[in-house]
Amino acid sequence: SLPKTATIIEVGPRDGLQNEARTVNTEDKLDFIKALQEAGLPEMELTSFVSPKWVPQMADAREIVAGTKKSGRQFVLTPNERGINAALEAGADSIAVFVGVSNSFNEKNINKSTAQSMEALKPLIEKAKQDGIFVRACISTAFYCPFEGAVDPQKTIELCGQFVDWGVDELSVADTIGMANPQESHELFSQLKKRFPDVLIAAHFHDTRRMALANAYAALVAGIDRFDASAGGLGGCPFAPGATGNVATEDLVHMFHRMSVDTGVDLEKLYEAISFIEPHVSNPLQTGMYTLYKNR
Ligand code: HMG
Ligand code: MG
Repeated sequence: SLPKTATIIEVGPRDGLQNEARTVNTEDKLDFIKALQEAGLPEMELTSFVSPKWVPQMADAREIVAGTKKSGRQFVLTPNERGINAALEAGADSIAVFVGVSNSFNEKNINKSTAQSMEALKPLIEKAKQDGIFVRACISTAFYCPFEGAVDPQKTIELCGQFVDWGVDELSVADTIGMANPQESHELFSQLKKRFPDVLIAAHFHDTRRMALANAYAALVAGIDRFDASAGGLGGCPFAPGATGNVATEDLVHMFHRMSVDTGVDLEKLYEAISFIEPHVSNPLQTGMYTLYKNR
């Protein structure tokens, strides 16, 4: 049977805007975040503390954290010690580290091998946990890599296990380039739930091949009740060629509500948040539910 409730982690302000051709003004980002909070999204990835040379769209991370009202759990992405320190100084209390199961992808994304990334992250995570900080570990290319193809699920599970041993609070397991199918989603998330019953597990789907909703349903059936999603279906990783946006928050929320899985999100207010950001991004937003809203 399906869970009664599911938690949406809104990643639009981070995953959504990091890949935007147009740089969105800090003020507009802050208003977007506020509108998303008003729509009842309980948790959010606000921004990332990364090199502004690599991802210029996130160069205002400090202002975003400082300018956002505290409400629920708010994550900032950070790849290294410098990012973690800057995030904490800016007032963040939850961090998200990220690493690719696939070595080739990790090198493109973080300029380190997966093993080098893990070696560097271990003491940082242990220190953050001693300091009482909520730590989420984002596992990229958990199913497929744009450079190496299919990823062995056992490698994904092993990497997750290391993070669990180091005490992370949550794993966010990602289909970075939207290539997984629902059977693969069901299989991997069933195994992760069984292996790691004591950490939170979120599913992070990109919708490149329009399988994200089906994958989310498969993960829900496998016992997952936390989902990353992006308002308007914005998103993509600049270092993953071919990756498009995340599963759209409005489509996921609508599907869940139709199945009596409550999310606490107010769809009407969510449409308002999307209409607010739409003129500031490079392409019209055309997800299923948002298109119906625009055609009313
Ligand atoms: P590097 O060039 O190897 O390292 O980059 P570096 O130490 O030489 O740093 C380069 C410059 O950035 C230096 O500045 C540093 O000071 C600065 P310079 O001396 O040249 O003026 N720098 C920083 N500035 C601000 N904040 C920092 C920071 N660190 C260094 N934290 C590095 C290595 C990791 C920094 C770089 O590769 C990087 O920033 N990568 C980020 C890539 C990224 O953001 N990708 C998207 C997020 S992951 C994702 O989208 C996937 C996910 O959604 C899940 C999924 O779908 O799979 C999470
Ligand atoms: Mg992503």
